[in-house]
Amino acid sequence: MLKKIITLAASAVVVTALSACGGGGDGGADAAGSGDGGGELTMGFAQVGAESGWRSANTKSIQESAKAAGVELKFSDAQQKQENQIKAIRSYIQQKVDVIAFSPVVETGWDTVLLEAKRAQIPVILTDRAVDSDDDSLYETFIGSDFVKEGEKAGEWLVGEAGSDPTKVVEIQGTTGAAPAIDRKAGFEDAIKGSSNIEVVASQTGDFTRSGGKQVMEAFLKSNPDIDVVYAHNDDMGLGAIEAIEAAGKVPGQDIKIITVDAVKDGMTALSEGKINFIVECNPLLGDQLMDAAEKVVAGDELPKRIETEETTFDQEQATAALPDRQY
Ligand code: AHR
Repeated sequence: MLKKIITLAASAVVVTALSACGGGGDGGADAAGSGDGGGELTMGFAQVGAESGWRSANTKSIQESAKAAGVELKFSDAQQKQENQIKAIRSYIQQKVDVIAFSPVVETGWDTVLLEAKRAQIPVILTDRAVDSDDDSLYETFIGSDFVKEGEKAGEWLVGEAGSDPTKVVEIQGTTGAAPAIDRKAGFEDAIKGSSNIEVVASQTGDFTRSGGKQVMEAFLKSNPDIDVVYAHNDDMGLGAIEAIEAAGKVPGQDIKIITVDAVKDGMTALSEGKINFIVECNPLLGDQLMDAAEKVVAGDELPKRIETEETTFDQEQATAALPDRQY
């Protein structure tokens, strides 16, 4: 993991995330993709799904940016299934789009379909989530967050908050095998490893959904009566955990502290109300950067292999101040 962190850090180019994009429609769910606009460049985009508030904001950003850039977008929603994304990518290859972009549901298992795109001479851009492949010639660039760093920020906050108090943590992980689940877990573990008073007593996937977070938290509360902290890999699962904690007669944010990742409006509202204690930001507004990269790639320009978004963290006071201007 250390090797991976060093490699990522060395190749990272930090670019301030563009914060434009507002209004517009929701993502369609057609498997093969539907046209949206009539520009010169055609992009096939295979989205993960609609599992979270973050994802909806990401879809909206991509659709609006495509429209603004005059890019004809063929959009598909894989409903969190890798086989659906592979089908969509194959369909974009058949349709001979100019560029394919996708956010891989999981990290592994992409080499075959990416090779098919390469042989068809269609460039591929990864957005939001990376792939784990030995062959980085299979894609042009990755645009998104440093998920390891996000996990570290969550862990660092907890180390400061816990001091020397014995602290029992339960972790609600994202989708098994997904880059943000793997990396946010690793970054968090790394940050707390010097604090023997902090113990992760249970860790399970909630699949990045609110209902998943609620279900997992209900089970945790039954098997672990004395939980001090929940670390949820996204806001939605943290919000689900809040429902379970309240139903169990406890006070979220006080009896059980909650750390999440994303900083979407619902999460920020809960933080501002004191139900969540700390949020690590993950920026979903990748649309403008993606359209810009697509135009460059199609024009034959070479791009850095990683283009990372800059992100911050929020405590209660900062969330209250940021909420009125929050776009998503
Ligand atoms: O890949 C980004 C993650 O996916 C977001 O943190 C989460 O909310 C989403 O479902």
